[in-house]
Amino acid sequence: MSQKLSLQQTAINTLNLNDRGGFTIPTAGLYPYQWNWDSAFVALGIATYDMDRAWREITTLIEGQWPDGMIPSIIFRDDNPDYFPGPSRWGKTHGAIPSTGVSQPPVLATVVRQITQGSKGIARRAEVFDAIFAWHKWFHDARTASGIVATVHPWETGRDNCPEWNIGLDLMEVAPDLPPYTRMDNKHVNPHHRPTQEQYDKYLTIVHFGDGIGWDQRRLTNEGPFLMADPNIHFVLLRADKDLLAMAEEIGEPVETCEQIRAWIAKGEAATDYIWNEELGAFSARDIRTGKFSDGFSNCSALCFYADTGTKEQRARVLAHLQRVENKVSYMLPSWDPDAPDFEPQRYWCGPMWPQMNYMTALGLEEQSEPEMARTIRDALNNAIEKSGFWECFDPLTGEGCVGANFSWTAAVWLSWQNATKLSGAA
Ligand code: GLC
Repeated sequence: MSQKLSLQQTAINTLNLNDRGGFTIPTAGLYPYQWNWDSAFVALGIATYDMDRAWREITTLIEGQWPDGMIPSIIFRDDNPDYFPGPSRWGKTHGAIPSTGVSQPPVLATVVRQITQGSKGIARRAEVFDAIFAWHKWFHDARTASGIVATVHPWETGRDNCPEWNIGLDLMEVAPDLPPYTRMDNKHVNPHHRPTQEQYDKYLTIVHFGDGIGWDQRRLTNEGPFLMADPNIHFVLLRADKDLLAMAEEIGEPVETCEQIRAWIAKGEAATDYIWNEELGAFSARDIRTGKFSDGFSNCSALCFYADTGTKEQRARVLAHLQRVENKVSYMLPSWDPDAPDFEPQRYWCGPMWPQMNYMTALGLEEQSEPEMARTIRDALNNAIEKSGFWECFDPLTGEGCVGANFSWTAAVWLSWQNATKLSGAA
């Protein structure tokens, strides 16, 4: 009990440590800016003890929105020489604040719905509704390809170097005129935990391309060097569209607005089959141009529960994969298939367990009547935190912390689980 109490305090201290005045950075050194889905998870944690500050996290994120509706993956409020690629490398972007030119999985609507319960919550939901609606519209308009909301950059998926992206990256050439650069990530953390140099060259090639077309997002989707469907973005957006619809109905949005969201949901439900890999028996990433599937079970494969989509048979097969994976690791849920040859338990998205993915997966399983597996996934993260502290991600074999320490979303997920029924009154 006392260890739990002190972890609660350490979690709050971690978020305070990373507070930069209205927004929270993921961790000092490695990630010195406001990140999109990090801030949404952070708000979930802070809402358990300071609703006004949690709300500020959300409104500062929205300050980075582009006129076309996109909320970018990183908002650069200054130019920190310790970070690469910073604002100068992304070039002239379209928001009021310099930013990246790609987005991130849109968990915001789901978080807003969750933390704004009660009568006062209606006003808060109404305050951000238009911004979130515009962002979802942007995904459906600017990123749809082959009927599914696709992605143009592994960084947009939030799962940077997951081996799922290799089939798309293999089709790419590094731009011959790629300006030289020096990586900074490897100076802050163990390089063996980070993406390889070849991958980095390709990530920068996509940025170079986007900058070259003035970050025209429809062109980036149609003509860019990389185009894949990502189960993470697909399931997160489908869930978020459903939460957005519930909010629209509650706050009395016009019928046409609700109809528009219903149409997105119908399109999303239909697109779930596009990422069903029959041979694998699970959902996996898919290259849009070749139709080729990635061949491993990742930590977003089971988000069908979170999005409440997929057939009964698909869900049963996904559950069987979870049971197989559970026998291979001590800490569920690894980011990549432990039976795959390129599984690396400490290299970022090639194996480590990630707090925000455990959070969403466990929530979905619980909602869809799979409490046992939900508990396994929740307990595994809690055990790793108790053992090692608030790390960015964890070795699924040992529970050892990997990459960044004092990590905001890890502290936030912990707080949200420990204080599940306690949203700080003000909502
Ligand atoms: C890494 C992660 C991404 C996260 C960011 C900041 O790039 O892959 O998901 O948002 O770090 O924590």
